Amino acid sequence: MPATVVTLIPGDGIGPDITQATLRILDAAGASVQWDTHVAGVAGVAAIGSPLPEATLESIRETKVALKGPLTTPIGVGFRSVNVALRKEFDLYANVRPARSLLPGGRYRDIDLVLIRENTEGLYVGVEHYIGMGDDPKAAAESVMIITRYGAERVVRFAFEYALRNGRRKVTLAHKANILKFTQGLFLEAGRNVAQEYAGKVAFEDMIVDATAMNLVLRPERFDLLVMENMFGDILSDLMAGLVGGLGLVPGGNIGKHTAIFEPVHGSAPDLTGKGIANPTAMLLAGCMMLDHIGQTGVADRIRQAVEGQIHSGESLTPDMGGTATTGQYADAVIRRLNG
Ligand code: NAI
Repeated sequence: MPATVVTLIPGDGIGPDITQATLRILDAAGASVQWDTHVAGVAGVAAIGSPLPEATLESIRETKVALKGPLTTPIGVGFRSVNVALRKEFDLYANVRPARSLLPGGRYRDIDLVLIRENTEGLYVGVEHYIGMGDDPKAAAESVMIITRYGAERVVRFAFEYALRNGRRKVTLAHKANILKFTQGLFLEAGRNVAQEYAGKVAFEDMIVDATAMNLVLRPERFDLLVMENMFGDILSDLMAGLVGGLGLVPGGNIGKHTAIFEPVHGSAPDLTGKGIANPTAMLLAGCMMLDHIGQTGVADRIRQAVEGQIHSGESLTPDMGGTATTGQYADAVIRRLNG
């Protein structure tokens, strides 16, 4: 099989460490990938003077698929989020975040959920401003939530199609239409319309987002696949990461009509940078989602099995999983399991 060219952005902070571990494991498993490596974020500013260099964008335009490490976003000041810019540039409208129990001994067992978050609209369009009053230029602030019928329908349709392809039985649409009658009301209305097309194939329910949060903690097993607008999805997908043992274990995919970018859901972890003990599992599982996307599911399944086996053995795990191993030692152990 000819190798598929994939854009690789190692990222900032712990990014290069977890990327190196991931590449070693993908290679050992026999993934047929040719990496086109580029910089972005703080690494982009340091190397080329831009957080999102044109060469990086050009590579993704050509390959249409990327594996990306975490990128540091300065808070309040400095450049805007490169992650948000990438989602906009390639219209990556669906953020797919699977959360599956891997770490034994947690509060929950056998969690196997997928959250699909609308990735381009809602409050994250960044339409916001201050309103001055008297001598206070920041007496008030306003952000605009934008929901379009087009955006809502396509992400809910994506959720149903994903459910059909992946054997999911039920879609839960979480919303706040009781209070935000226009924006959230439109999302719900569009979602209900799309759901009708799948009646008899995939079950559908809608649930107010605060009740959804409570039920995810009380009875996560009652859910299967969840779909919601941008900010609710951002918050609840991290809640779901917490249900399965933390950010170091959960991957995500940003999917558009023509392009897809896969990444760990966690950030650049400044507190761990340079220590060599970051958990590469989320990045590795993002690599597996990328392999599924380019038709190398067999290789991805072997890696997922090896990771699961390693974590269940309780040996050679990084500190966040309760062990004392370095990123490299954990990767070595997964590779031994792949070869064994
Ligand atoms: P973070 O996810 O980097 O860290 C939160 C906590 O989780 C820290 O205690 C960290 O040590 C731990 N953690 C994260 N990944 C881990 C891993 N692989 N192994 C073990 N522990 C891990 O979130 P934080 O500190 O809020 O953000 C740091 C930077 O990352 C910020 O600049 C933020 O904007 C950026 N960020 C980037 C994302 C992306 O590129 N998709 C997503 C989230 C944050």
